[in-house]
Amino acid sequence: MNISPDFLELRIANPLILASGILGTTGASLAAAAKNGAGAVTSKSAWLNRHDGHPNPTVLDLGGGNLLNAVGLPHGGIEEARTEFENFRKLSEAPLFASIAANNFEEFGETAKAVAELKPDLIELNISCPNVEDEFGKPFACSVQDATKATRIVKKAIGKIPLSIKLSPNVENIVEIARAAEAAGADAITAINTVGPGMAIDIEIAEPILANRVGGLSGPAIRPLAIRAVFEIFKAVKIPIIGTGGISNGRDAIEMMEAGASLVGIGSAAKNGTEIFRKIAAEIEKWCESHGISEISDLIGKTHKTKIQV
Ligand SMILES: Cc1cc2nc3c(=O)[nH]c(=O)nc-3n(C[C@H](O)[C@H](O)[C@H](O)COP(=O)(O)O)c2cc1C
Repeated sequence: MNISPDFLELRIANPLILASGILGTTGASLAAAAKNGAGAVTSKSAWLNRHDGHPNPTVLDLGGGNLLNAVGLPHGGIEEARTEFENFRKLSEAPLFASIAANNFEEFGETAKAVAELKPDLIELNISCPNVEDEFGKPFACSVQDATKATRIVKKAIGKIPLSIKLSPNVENIVEIARAAEAAGADAITAINTVGPGMAIDIEIAEPILANRVGGLSGPAIRPLAIRAVFEIFKAVKIPIIGTGGISNGRDAIEMMEAGASLVGIGSAAKNGTEIFRKIAAEIEKWCESHGISEISDLIGKTHKTKIQV
């Protein structure tokens, strides 16, 4: 069977993508994910200049595959991204998606231009980071105006490289942000980033466990939220979706594709080993074969074609 997805004319061996920030901290760790079966990999969000994350502890294992994280997008700046990408290219031919973050619109433009020169196969715009020029430091992802402006600026800066906008679920209406991103020139949507913020408390000392006190939730607990977001976005836009959030086995990945995802991002589930990609790809293939599906693309948005509609 053919499990190579139809996605923006990129050659991708299978629909499973390493999500941004999980293991993609060096070229070698990105390449390990590709070697172990990821169809493409996403680098952690790159900043133009060095960006310090939050102090430790930054990641809490909540059990059941769920994580609460406040890493705060640490990054060494554009030269670190250059080294990371060059090392990855020496080790793997899989498509490389470059995630970028910034403090303000101008910096988004400059970062996008600098990262585009590194020739990634796609640029993913992480608009969940706070806009420091906003009165309340609200993330770009929270307003139609800001998401539109960031998308336009980055699209202009990166020429022909495809652009995906990574949406935050922590907004009033994720569908209107997706629509705005499409109207502003996005080629794809990545949904969703972590959910929250949430908090966990050490009851012995009555203190929040994360040094940042609050963090974003990821893993199986957020899957229904991600599925719902992708389902709604699929109905509202024509561009393809990279569905991300809580996927940890073949059935989850199929559910995500049936909701409308063309590609499936895997983050938390890869934290304990990249072998998960090969395992999930095999599970998808086996399921498709047992259900008489010969083209993986037939799964995309299948829920929208059934008679029972929500
Ligand atoms: C430790 C950690 C670091 C992350 N870093 C980034 C990042 O740098 N950029 C980004 O866009 N998303 C980042 N994310 C969000 C993931 O890419 C993903 O959207 C989210 O975790 C939901 O997917 P999952 O449930 O499969 O983990 C991070 C998530 C975790 C857990």
